[in-house]
Amino acid sequence: MNTIKLHALTLAMLTALSVPALSQSTTLTMAVPDEASIPNGPMGEAIKRGKILLTDTHKQLPRNVGNGLNCTSCHLNGGTTAHASPWVGLAGAFPEYRSRGGKVISLQERINDCFQRSMNGKPLAFDSSEMNAIMAYMKWLSTGVPTGTSVPGRGFEKIDASLVPDREHGKAVYAAQCASCHGADGQGTKNPQGGYIFPPVWGKDSFNVGAGMARMFTAAAFVKHNMPLGQGGTLSAQEAVDVAAYFTQQPRPDYAPRVYDWPKGDRPKDAR
Ligand code: HEC
Ligand code: HEC
Repeated sequence: MNTIKLHALTLAMLTALSVPALSQSTTLTMAVPDEASIPNGPMGEAIKRGKILLTDTHKQLPRNVGNGLNCTSCHLNGGTTAHASPWVGLAGAFPEYRSRGGKVISLQERINDCFQRSMNGKPLAFDSSEMNAIMAYMKWLSTGVPTGTSVPGRGFEKIDASLVPDREHGKAVYAAQCASCHGADGQGTKNPQGGYIFPPVWGKDSFNVGAGMARMFTAAAFVKHNMPLGQGGTLSAQEAVDVAAYFTQQPRPDYAPRVYDWPKGDRPKDAR
């Protein structure tokens, strides 16, 4: 409940200081359970292991990850950030209908979707200790969220899909606001100890063409609220769409099975 108080306090402070409205991602806090509530014993061990697998995925699961990313490269702060597709509440949100596959899927299937697309890798077995550890962490994160409800801030806040992208301007935005961390050629900044300090946004170590982040409006919504890192909300929606149009269209790994996506014919216009 502290988070709700904090939220109210933040809003009150912002009003008092008459600071111009910041983006929702900076003000919307998410009710996340206290680390101290992780139980001792096997369940607690699984929750903690799940968090490590999701935050250090590239190193921990080399057989399942085909690029340089971790799950938390996009699901920021251990999957606890509103509008950065948080994992809070997902334990009771799935199974759920997904239009991309045209069917009802389980949380495990959704996790494996990101392994195969966002991580350009291979699915985990449903009965593996790794999958169960990931599920344990997400269940713990969902503590107190009623079954069948979505938390405010789930997914990404939709961006105006009528905006017309200007890729040339997007290239300039990228050079000015993104290249210092993600590299002039989108290749990221490597960590000498392995993996990346700043993850790549295109090229062989990036997400593949079948990933949600390869869709211009999804990428724009993520960027608008979360990038440049620590300065979410500073780009206009138009700038976010422009820069997303630029980096999503750069070379990246293919994903052949994407031809089976959206079998019901409701393919979004920005799908690659
Ligand atoms: C390159 C960015 C990226 C990475 C890396 C990534 N994801 Fe995702 N993930 C997304 C996007 C984008 C969506 C949502 C797409 C949509 O529905 O619009 C998503 C959605 C999800 C969802 C469903 C969320 C919901 O509210 O329904 C789960 C669960 C998930 N990812 C788990 C994972 C796991 C586990 C990993 C690591 C194995 C991972 N993701 C890595 C981008 C990423
Ligand atoms: C100060 C450094 C910094 C700047 C500047 C920055 N980012 Fe990021 N970005 C990061 C980090 C770090 C992550 C991964 C977060 C994590 O691992 O906790 C990230 C993640 C991402 C991701 C998802 C992961 C991936 O590699 O695909 C995208 C997409 C992205 N940034 C796009 C952008 C865009 C577009 C801009 C410019 C508008 C930008 N970033 C500016 C540091 C930065």
